Amino acid sequence: MLIKLFLFFILNIKLFVIVWCSEKNATGNEGQLIFAHVLFRHGDRTPVDPYPTDPWRDLKYWPTGWGQLTNTGKKQHYELGQWLRKRYTNLISKTYSRNEIFIRSTDVDRTLMSALADLSGLYPPTEKDIWNPDVNWQPIPVHTIPEVNDAILAAKKPCPAYDYALKKLKTSEEYTEINKKLKPIYNYLTKNSGKNVNTMTGCQYIYGCLKIEQLYNKTLPEWTSKVYPEPLATISARAFITNTYTPQLARLKFGPLLKEMLTRFQDKFNRNLDPDRKLWIYSAHDTTVSGFLNTLNLFELHNPPYTACVLVELRVINKEPFVSIFYKNTTAEPIAMNIPNCGQLCPLDEMFKIYEPVLPVNWESECRLSMLQMSYVDVEIKSTIGVAGISILLILSLLAIIIAVLLYKRHSNYHDDKWYYRIDG
Ligand SMILES: *[C@@H]1O[C@H](CO)[C@@H](O)[C@H](O)[C@H]1NC(C)=O
Ligand SMILES: *[C@@H]1O[C@H](CO)[C@@H](O)[C@H](O)[C@H]1NC(C)=O
Ligand SMILES: *[C@@H]1O[C@H](CO)[C@@H](O)[C@H](O)[C@H]1NC(C)=O
Repeated sequence: MLIKLFLFFILNIKLFVIVWCSEKNATGNEGQLIFAHVLFRHGDRTPVDPYPTDPWRDLKYWPTGWGQLTNTGKKQHYELGQWLRKRYTNLISKTYSRNEIFIRSTDVDRTLMSALADLSGLYPPTEKDIWNPDVNWQPIPVHTIPEVNDAILAAKKPCPAYDYALKKLKTSEEYTEINKKLKPIYNYLTKNSGKNVNTMTGCQYIYGCLKIEQLYNKTLPEWTSKVYPEPLATISARAFITNTYTPQLARLKFGPLLKEMLTRFQDKFNRNLDPDRKLWIYSAHDTTVSGFLNTLNLFELHNPPYTACVLVELRVINKEPFVSIFYKNTTAEPIAMNIPNCGQLCPLDEMFKIYEPVLPVNWESECRLSMLQMSYVDVEIKSTIGVAGISILLILSLLAIIIAVLLYKRHSNYHDDKWYYRIDG
């Protein structure tokens, strides 16, 4: 009887601890950290493509070439690597092992180089890793795949359903209204930059270029003082959420990345991960960091700076798996994010439930777009279209299907080619 009472008491304490832990703020010190995903933006770079009237549009000012990582950028990532070494000192060994860590980058010079610079801070050779006493560096593999095949990190693998939904958003009432309000700024930029600007993304492009030139102490043309930094900084920040503005867009754009992380957590916790790794690094862009955070509903409008870094960590607390997300966008310690309706330590099962709307079940098939699906989406989104609209859409769909079938018959060889391409990816 006493033993039973005692057991009852212990079990309740355990329950209490679980509940209490899930509500308390994450400091990064609770439970046992067993896996971390790190997603970061590259470091300092040169402008990608200056606007036509830019006085600094000449490679003599940017000898490393357009869109390239600079020495400052290398240093920034080296320092982030050192910081990661400190944070994960108990998670990964001091010496490199492929069974502990995997690094993936988008297939872009500056992200590949950032990953390598980061790794030189994370794994300075010690003990058995020392291969040349004159070189305080060791080679560590960084994996990538061509962007056009990359549905996970670059998120640029073609997805017709996504393109269609994005186009719809951009012509929606809300976006038309925003663009109408910004029209005077678009006109001003078009007139002065020599580039036709008619979207928020167009503004973001010019903002990014001016910001880099300012960082490099280049005198900006007089006309820019009217729009830089504001309102361009705010418009640029707003442009970051367009790609993931609706759950459908988020699901098709960064859903695969989120699903990959959560599934990997599950495998890790269930001891199904092989090799049984502990750290996974993704080297990518400001659009990746902002889009991923926005997919999680955790993005506050801002322009993610160089080396902005999202940490998605798995901890075991009383034998249960918990997820924490931290955002590090300064040199200070990272900010613990409050996962919607779950807090800073969220049970892994809950993560799957909370984010179900943005986790694709079968991305490839969800990306397919038939004309019939199209009209269905149209009807769903715009109930105001009404019955007449539905009929017109159905007729249009039928016509489109007939045309599609005819085209298919004419171009069946071409179709085979495409199919082969996809398998290849
Ligand atoms: C948790 O963090 C929030 C801000 O993120 C703060 O307002 C709150 O007081 C913290 N709670 C505890 C228990 O530390
Ligand atoms: C720009 O000027 C500031 C202040 O004089 C200086 O600290 C900084 O190093 C300069 N930046 C570059 C890239 O030359
Ligand atoms: C850093 O991130 C926080 C939280 O998203 C945001 O509010 C802030 O503006 C960001 N600051 C910088 C410098 O990026």
